[in-house]
Amino acid sequence: MLKITPNDAILGATIEEFDAAQPMDDAVFQQILAALGRHGVLRFPRQTLTPAQLKTFSERFGDIQSGIGEKREGGVPEVGILSNVREAGEYIGLPDAGQDWHTDMSYRDVIGFVNVLYGVKVPVRDGRVLGGTEFSDMHAAYEALPADIKSRLADATVTHDFDKFWMMMVNRPGSVRKPMTPEQRAKRPPAVHPLFLTHPLTGRKVLYCNPGYAMRIDGWPEAESKAMLDSLFEHQLKAEFRYMHTWQQHDLLVWDHIGTIHQAIADYRADEERLMLRCQVMATRVFEPGFVRAA
Ligand code: SIN
Repeated sequence: MLKITPNDAILGATIEEFDAAQPMDDAVFQQILAALGRHGVLRFPRQTLTPAQLKTFSERFGDIQSGIGEKREGGVPEVGILSNVREAGEYIGLPDAGQDWHTDMSYRDVIGFVNVLYGVKVPVRDGRVLGGTEFSDMHAAYEALPADIKSRLADATVTHDFDKFWMMMVNRPGSVRKPMTPEQRAKRPPAVHPLFLTHPLTGRKVLYCNPGYAMRIDGWPEAESKAMLDSLFEHQLKAEFRYMHTWQQHDLLVWDHIGTIHQAIADYRADEERLMLRCQVMATRVFEPGFVRAA
């Protein structure tokens, strides 16, 4: 029987009495999906996982996206490495992944469903854990929008582009990223999604845009689109929607990409090692009838 303890915060719960390395029966998976809908960010503490087990666990939620510019854990191409650790002068993974507000895969036709991140090394300085992951709740952000904005934007769609976030990272001082090659660019064309999505787990609306990838409100004049998106970005990052996850080594974190946005906090030095293994799971199955069953 899972032990689910909600955080004293707008998002997040800890799930114990669960071993992610073991096969998961369907009833347990349905409980996890229900908890994900309710809490948005699930922490499974004290997990011991090989990359292959991380992949198997993650695949229950849907197909895993293969990344661009991200080193892959040996032998398991679905598992990406996010890390500032260097070996022979080379980063063993992507060192700056997710270091500003976004949600993964809003830039794809098939959007992201969940991220699964496994904390292998967590930086600690003077007893304080660094390198947290911060979230903002997009159910709450939608609900708090003024009624006139909800009705004016009810049918709006937004174009999302992977290149926006990528170039923001390239242009950061000290960045090791290079602009995408034409071949990489061709694998990540822009995608269009409704601004307000109905969440497949909750049946409630979410504000589906994010500063990392949202480029414009389709059909709107450029200046108006920019002004409206800027005000939506400001709204969705209000303090009352936010929750900071403080990592412990061997936490397995699963979060909902549709109902939250997130950022990785780069408050640690180059010599303070952080190593995460990541599976980015697409919403290939969650919209299928029967995938989510009533409790
Ligand atoms: C991500 O944005 O996928 C990575 C988040 C993190 O490393 O905390």
